[in-house]
Amino acid sequence: MKIQNHIAGRWCDAATGDRFPVVDPADDSRIAEVPDSRADDARAAVDAAHAAFPGWRAVPAKQRAAMLKRWNDLILRDQDRLGALISQEQGKPLAEGRAEVAYAASYVEWFAEEATRINGEVIPAPVQGRRMLALREPVGVVAAITPWNFPAAMIARKIAPALAAGCTVVAKPAEDTPLTSLALVDLAVEAGLPPGVLNIVCASRERTPEVVDVWLADDRVRKITFTGSTPVGKHLARESASTLKKLSLELGGNAPFIVFDDADVDAAVEGLMAAKFRNGGQTCVCPNRVFAQHGIHDRFVEKLAARVAALKVGPATRADSQIGPMINARAVDKIERHVMDAVERGALIAAGGRRIRDDVAAGPNYFAPTVLTNATTAMLLWHEETFGPVVPIFRFKTEDEVVAAANDTPFGLAAYFYTRDFARAWRVADALESGIVGLNEGAIAAEAAPFGGVKESGYGREGSTHGLEDYLHIKYVCQGGLS
Ligand code: SIN
Repeated sequence: MKIQNHIAGRWCDAATGDRFPVVDPADDSRIAEVPDSRADDARAAVDAAHAAFPGWRAVPAKQRAAMLKRWNDLILRDQDRLGALISQEQGKPLAEGRAEVAYAASYVEWFAEEATRINGEVIPAPVQGRRMLALREPVGVVAAITPWNFPAAMIARKIAPALAAGCTVVAKPAEDTPLTSLALVDLAVEAGLPPGVLNIVCASRERTPEVVDVWLADDRVRKITFTGSTPVGKHLARESASTLKKLSLELGGNAPFIVFDDADVDAAVEGLMAAKFRNGGQTCVCPNRVFAQHGIHDRFVEKLAARVAALKVGPATRADSQIGPMINARAVDKIERHVMDAVERGALIAAGGRRIRDDVAAGPNYFAPTVLTNATTAMLLWHEETFGPVVPIFRFKTEDEVVAAANDTPFGLAAYFYTRDFARAWRVADALESGIVGLNEGAIAAEAAPFGGVKESGYGREGSTHGLEDYLHIKYVCQGGLS
C-alpha cells in the first residue's frame, strides 16, 4: 500500500524526508514508517486544496455523488483488508475492524445520496418586483483532524460530507493510526477523485502542532472539523478565531448509563456490554459512569460481572479476541491510575481490576475488563473519561438524584438509560444534558443519526441530514427590477 502523503494528486514524502514509526499495539512492534510532515507540507496541502476548490464545487452534484458511490463500493470491496489493517494499527478485534469499515462506508454512501439534495430556497419577497433566494454553497477548504479510535469511520464521516458539499479537504490522521486513512485516500483516488480535492499529510505527535498551526493561521482554510479531546478542541476554537473559521468539534464525554428499578435488567446488561466494550471502551460515547437503582443494583452487578469476566482478551488479529490491546502505554497507565484511585477510595472489584500479560495477551498494553462497585463522586473516574474497559457502578435511590448526578459534568455527548415506564422515559430523556440519548438502547451510532454533543463535548453534528450543514454556508441573492 502507499505509505506517503497525498498532495495535489501525488503520493509524496515529507519535504524533509523524515518519517515516524507506526506500531501494532498488540506488542508494540513496528509495522510501518509514515512521513513526518512539517509546516511546508501542510502549506502545500492547502495550496492544492485551494487550487482544486473552484473546479470541484463546479462539478455537478450528481457527478460528485457518483464518485462518492464508487468510493463506497471500493471500501466495501476491500472490507476484509481494511478491517485487518484497522485491527493491526488500532487494536480493535477483527470482527469490529470489519464492522468499522462497513460503518465508514455507510457515511460515504449516505453523503453520496445527500449530495444531490443540497437545495436552496425561494423566499416570498415582501415587496413587488424582487426575487429572493437563499443558496447553499460549499464553505471552501476544510481541514479534517481525526482521532485514532475509529481510523476509518471518523475520517469518512468528515470527508464524505465535505466532498458532497463541494468542499476540498486537507486531512491529518491521528499519529497512532495513519495507515487506514492512507488506504481510504488511495481508494478515493481509484474512485476518480480529481487531484487536489483530497489531500492528506501525516505527522508525529511532536510535529502535529506545527502542521495544525499552519491550517489554523491560513485564511484559505474556511473550516476545521475535529474529533478528539476537549482541551485540544478549545485550543482550535481559540486559535481559529483570528480567521473566523467554521468549526465542528466532537470532543470528550463522560457518559452516564442509568438503570432504573423498573428496567429490563437483562436488556440493560446487554445494552451496557454493547455500549461500553465496543473498541475496548475506547469510544467517546462509551458509558463512563453507570448508575444502578438500589432495588436492582445487586442483580444487575451479578449479571454484569459474569458477562464481563467471560470476555476474551487478546491480540486484535486473533479470531476469538473480544477485547484487544489498548492503543498505547499512556492509555493503559491512565486506566490503571483510575482503577487504583477508585480502589484506594473504597471501590470494590467485581471483575478484572488489573493489567494482563500472559501467553495470549502477550504485550504491554492489555487491561482486564473491569467492574467496580461502591463508586463515588470522590473518584477520578467520576470526573475524567477513563477511555478503557472499566465499568464503575454508582448506587442511587431516586430519579431526581440520578438525573442531577448524570448532569453533574461539564460534558454532554451521550447518555443512556433503561426503564419500562413511559412517563419516566420522556421525563428523563428531556432532562439529560446530552447531545445523544440511548433510551433502552446501547448501540446508538448510525449514519442517519445526528452525532454530536452539548456543553464541553463540542458543537456541530456529523451524519444525518444535519451533517452537511457544517460544510455549507447560505448566500442570499436578491434580484430587483422585476416589475
Ligand atoms: C467516537 O468515539 O468519537 C465515535 C464513536 C461512534 O461513531 O460511535
